[in-house]
Amino acid sequence: MSANFARLTTETFLADFEHYAEIGSTNDRALQLCTEESLFTPYLVLADRQTSGRGRGSNRWWSSDGALLFSLIIEAAEFGLPESRWPLVSLTAGVAVCQGVASLLPSDRGHELGLKWPNDVWLNGRKACGILVEVPPTLRGRLVIGIGLNVNNSFTSASKELQSLATSLHDETDANWDRDSVLLVLLRQLEDDLKSLAADDVRLPERWQTLSVLTGRDVTLEVGQQHVSGRCLGIATDGGLRLQRADGERNFYGGTVKSFSGKPTDAF
Ligand code: BTN
Repeated sequence: MSANFARLTTETFLADFEHYAEIGSTNDRALQLCTEESLFTPYLVLADRQTSGRGRGSNRWWSSDGALLFSLIIEAAEFGLPESRWPLVSLTAGVAVCQGVASLLPSDRGHELGLKWPNDVWLNGRKACGILVEVPPTLRGRLVIGIGLNVNNSFTSASKELQSLATSLHDETDANWDRDSVLLVLLRQLEDDLKSLAADDVRLPERWQTLSVLTGRDVTLEVGQQHVSGRCLGIATDGGLRLQRADGERNFYGGTVKSFSGKPTDAF
């Protein structure tokens, strides 16, 4: 990152932040900070590199240099976010990343941004961003929103398998991006969209429905030990994945999408 960090507190909603050249995981550091009662929020933990980045479940999150890696700590009450809406924070963050990145991409190139339920952002058919929202066990009321966006890291020399699954802003545009500017845009968009979530703004679920890349596809979801399949009808207002099955429509609130329309997705 460049040294232009002052804008983080003067031009966004952040109360404070810390930056690391290298850290284990920004989410782990954020969870640790959440134990400090006197922490000023919203608070950002930002890193250039992670040595033990975490994804959903037991997944690791690995990225080479150039990715934008951060965890945002918010006090839910500051946003007027009741606990019943916390499960929607991940989708909301996904919508914010889609919108923020879309505003930065050249509009004449037809780049496609989408949301793969529940927490991936896809760019032109491949994963560009992962989101990990965690509720710290201590000082209930704080949330950690971890975001890893592939910006200047490239997958062009990665294995063919990884290349078919993952991409970055650099790989899609052939440009070197200013990560500070991307971060500022994402933070502003996150603030707006978290406020929309708190206000129960109907345009937010409309946006995740429009952005859903699984809609209309045959999806196989792993829920616990079971696999369930169905035609995806989109993402419900309450955040559930809507699957049309032989016995009718069912909404799912947890699980991992293992494949859709025959394409495996769990390798990354
Ligand atoms: C996923 O795709 O499963 C979620 C990946 C989330 C990765 C980000 S990178 C910044 C933050 N710190 C972590 O350890 N994880 C999140």
